[in-house]
Parts: sequence; C-alpha cells; structure tokens
Amino acid sequence: MRINNSKVVVIGAGSVGSATASSLVTQGVCDQVMLLDINREKAYAEALDLRHSIQYLNRNVKVCCGEYKDCGDADIVVVTAAAPMKPGQTRLDMLADSKKIIKELVEPVMESGFDGIFLVITNPVDVISYYIYKLSGLPKSQVIGTGTALDTARLKCYLAELIDVDPRSVHGFCMGEHGDSQMVPWSRVMVGGKSFTDILRDNPGQLGQVHLKDIAKKTTRAGWEIIERKGSTNYGIAASTVGIIKAILNDENKVIPVSTLLDGEYGHCEVFAGVPAVLCRSGVKEVIQIRMHEDEKARFDHSVKIIKEHCDSLNVK
Ligand SMILES: NC(=O)c1ccc[n+]([C@@H]2O[C@H](COP(=O)([O-])OP(=O)(O)OC[C@H]3O[C@@H](n4cnc5c(N)ncnc54)[C@H](O)[C@@H]3O)[C@@H](O)[C@H]2O)c1
Repeated sequence: MRINNSKVVVIGAGSVGSATASSLVTQGVCDQVMLLDINREKAYAEALDLRHSIQYLNRNVKVCCGEYKDCGDADIVVVTAAAPMKPGQTRLDMLADSKKIIKELVEPVMESGFDGIFLVITNPVDVISYYIYKLSGLPKSQVIGTGTALDTARLKCYLAELIDVDPRSVHGFCMGEHGDSQMVPWSRVMVGGKSFTDILRDNPGQLGQVHLKDIAKKTTRAGWEIIERKGSTNYGIAASTVGIIKAILNDENKVIPVSTLLDGEYGHCEVFAGVPAVLCRSGVKEVIQIRMHEDEKARFDHSVKIIKEHCDSLNVK
C-alpha cells in the first residue's frame, strides 16, 4: 500500500518564508513543511518554534529544516530567498541580487530529483519566475509566481471597505507586473454581478469622491506603506501563497491571478506576467484570457513590456 505525503519546502526562512511556513502549519495544509535557509540556524529555529505549536493545532504537520538534497520528494518548493532590501529600491532594482541567489539554488534543487512545482515569491517575482523556468527546464505549468495574487487581495480589501462588503464578494484582478506598472481592468471588477463602475455611478452621494486611479495607486503602493512602517510585508503574501498551495494540493481548479508564462495569450510570448489562471494538481492548467477595453489592454501591454525587457536582460536561453 502506498499513501503519498504532501510536502512543501520553503527556501528562505526570513520574514516571508517563516510567515508562509506558519500559515501552512496553522491551516494544516500539508503533511510536511521543510524550511531551508543559507542561515541554517534561522531555519532550524523557525522549524523548532513551529513544532511547538502543534499541540494546539488541528493537524500534526511535520516541520523540519533540511538541505537541498531533501527537496527531491517535495510537491512544491516555495522560493523566498532574497538579499536584504536596500533603501529606495523598487522591486525591479532587486533583480541583480536576486538573480545571483536564484542561480545558486535552482541547480541543487533540480539535482535532488525535484519534479514538483516551484512557487516563486522572490522579487522581482515575474522576472525571477521566468528565470527559474529557464534554469530548471521544468514545464511552464510547474513554475508559478505569486504575481498579482497579493495585489488582487489588496485591491479587493480596499474596494470592500469602500462599500462595506466582504472582500471575498468582490471579483476582479490586478494584472501585469507585481510592481509599479501593474493595472486593474476595471471593466471586469464586479460585486454581486454589478460592475464597480456602475456602483460608483449609482451612488454619487456616498462614492462621488472616489476615483478609480486613486484606488489603483493605493493598491500598488500598499506594500511600501507596510514596509515603511515595519520593514517588510509577510502576512498578506503568506496568505496568498497558501491560497495558491491549497488550490494545487487539493486539485481545486481554482482561478487565482498568478504569474505564469504567456505563450501567445494576450498576444505575448516568453514572459511571465500576472493573469487569472486555473490552478490544479499539475500547476497552471489554463490562462484565462479576459476581454478588456482598449485602454485597459494598452496598460496591460505596457506592463508586460516592462517585465519582458527585464526577462530579456537575463540572457538565458
Ligand atoms: N511576490 C510578492 O508579492 C512578495 C511580497 C513580499 C515580499 N516579497 C519578496 O520576498 C522576498 C523575501 O522577503 P523577506 O522579507 O522574507 O526577506 P528576508 O530578508 O526577511 O528573508 C530572506 C531570507 O533569504 C535567505 N537567503 C538569502 N540567500 C539565500 C540562499 N542563497 N539560499 C537560501 N536562503 C537564502 C536569507 O538568509 C533570509 O533569511 C523578497 O524578494 C521580497 O521582495 C515578494
């Protein structure tokens, strides 16, 4: 008899990696969580601390720290490894440092026999996801960036607060780069089947001062608003990541905006960008091509172009 254990490895036990491991354990999402960091003591301590929480949780998730050779039987390897952020850096400015770190880690992960799904968080996430796709040689369905999953959660949170509904009742996506050029296709943002633009139009008294541009800007700036005050963001990205992991491990066919390889979709090729995608046990099953207004498509194309320029600068075949 063979019973498969689900195993998630988190590379990088810093602010994001430890919060992701914690969410995996507290939500009881898988059988095993393994932490791996260049700072082995940090990975060891985070794993030990998490093990002490099991007594009060619903599931005896096995938590450990480990080595690259232990990635071979992982279903998902989450990549959060990164260099410390420098003041004033944009996400795209982080590329040079992140590239070096990623080059070091993809090879040993692949040498372990890993044939699961890379779930990439390290910024600039769209470009790094493309880099890992190229270095690993894995099929496009098996390399996924968190992309605009977090930005979408932030957008829904702000819209929900404006009209006092549950964020999960707001439907729509941020798309393109997880970064300054991301965009919102407002024509596709709905609450209870009603477009958000109609909601604004029908409620001039309550919402007359609300401008879509301001909401989009607030969403794009949300990460910095947190970083300026506590140095990093971790809970939102951990929740977004675990949402993606659940969709994969439970074979949910759930639609989540993630960064995936565009292979002709939306007229783009050889670039990762945030788009709504169907997620299942084998990773990205399908990219959903939504219809956008002309100006929305132009903003999406502009964002993808920025990512593509950085992907091209990696010089990987
Ligand atoms: N995609 C998103 O939506 C999103 C959201 C938040 C943060 N991030 C990104 O996630 C990354 C991690 O952020 P953080 O706040 O946890 O940073 P952090 O500095 O707290 O943690 C990074 C960890 O990576 C480890 N590390 C560095 N090089 C390594 C290597 N070669 N092998 C293994 N581990 C290594 C470090 O020791 C450190 O523990 C950053 O790139 C950040 O910009 C992305």
